[in-house]
Amino acid sequence: MSQHVQGVVAHSKGAPVAIETIVIPDPGPGEAVVKIQACGVCHTDLHYRQGGINDDFPFLLGHEAAGVVESVGEGVTDVVPGDFVILNWRAVCGQCRACLRGRPWYCFNTHNAKQKMTLEDGTELSPALGIGAFAEKTLVAAGQCTKVDRSASAAAAGLLGCGVMAGIGAAINTGNVGRGDSVAVIGCGGVGDAAIVGSNLAGASKIIAVDLDDRKLETARKLGATHTVNSKESDPVEGIRELTGGHGADVVIEAVGRPETYKQAFYARDLAGTVVLVGVPTPEMKLELPLLDVFGRGGSLKSSWYGDCLPSRDFPMLIDLYLQGRLNLDAFVTETIALDEVEKAFERMHGGDVLRSVVVL
Ligand SMILES: NC(=O)c1ccc[n+]([C@@H]2O[C@H](COP(=O)([O-])OP(=O)(O)OC[C@H]3O[C@@H](n4cnc5c(N)ncnc54)[C@H](O)[C@@H]3O)[C@@H](O)[C@H]2O)c1
Ligand SMILES: [Zn+2]
Ligand SMILES: [Zn+2]
Repeated sequence: MSQHVQGVVAHSKGAPVAIETIVIPDPGPGEAVVKIQACGVCHTDLHYRQGGINDDFPFLLGHEAAGVVESVGEGVTDVVPGDFVILNWRAVCGQCRACLRGRPWYCFNTHNAKQKMTLEDGTELSPALGIGAFAEKTLVAAGQCTKVDRSASAAAAGLLGCGVMAGIGAAINTGNVGRGDSVAVIGCGGVGDAAIVGSNLAGASKIIAVDLDDRKLETARKLGATHTVNSKESDPVEGIRELTGGHGADVVIEAVGRPETYKQAFYARDLAGTVVLVGVPTPEMKLELPLLDVFGRGGSLKSSWYGDCLPSRDFPMLIDLYLQGRLNLDAFVTETIALDEVEKAFERMHGGDVLRSVVVL
């Protein structure tokens, strides 16, 4: 027996999203139906609606979500109906060469639900990042559900499902930031701010926030940045070096996704330091660097997929820290909105004063 729920659909490139009736099949083997309680509005949802990810319209948008498992299909044992879960977009397979080498956070064969959700006329929907959670309920692979302490607020918990996890993980997992490190974060949106919070959690003693917008820098400071550099007004490489005894930071996290900010990150790090690219570039972007500088400066240049997170390890741990008051996820929730306000939230994204609008159901 399938069921009918309301959801936010992008029908065609650039067109405003619409609320539609979505048909959700019963969960098949390895699948789960989740009743969504909250879902953050992420830039990637807007990218989908602009046709920037692929052309598989119509999309069921939304992917930063938390909710309660309603039903599970055959063979599902990790979650049961009633569990409070955060959804992730990389359900690990356990069998690919990365998983078998004990590095499941890199899994090269992550999966989603096999069955399709559809519109009432049978048109198959493409769920954003294999989730599709701007809806009362959604169908996912059971491995996309990670059980966490249910006393956490759904609006805050859901944010760990994408941008906030990507930022925290870029610092903690990919950058391996440790006690006493100096860190610079270039680009202080939701992801960069989360990298600041992650660096703070990991014990960094200096956290330099870089952005073009003073309002972003003010928020970054509230979240734990110890210094700020407005890169519209002054050279960020010089600024970061000055603040680190002339050397550069131990770890520089690029959270914009552009060649010019990547170059800044590359030159603003100390010898043998680490650059982490968590910002996502577009296909036409190219990077040119003197190879001698790549060699001569040593250290490591890393990319961070989804914060190199392992949901089963990281989500419950971060929710525990949140509940203990050691991780301020609430600070990322600028406003809560209804399902029919997603289009307005897209407009507000460009204003620069919203970290996250979160749909609460
Ligand atoms: N790696 C992943 O798994 C992953 C996951 C989620 C998002 N992302 C990516 O992370 C990036 C940031 O996402 P977000 O949600 O924080 O976006 P955002 O738009 O909220 O923030 C970007 C910030 O960068 C600043 N900025 C823009 N150009 C700049 C420049 N030249 N110098 C300094 N600052 C500049 C903006 O003022 C803004 O504060 C995006 O590229 C997004 O696609 C990556
Ligand atoms: Zn795998
Ligand atoms: Zn996202």
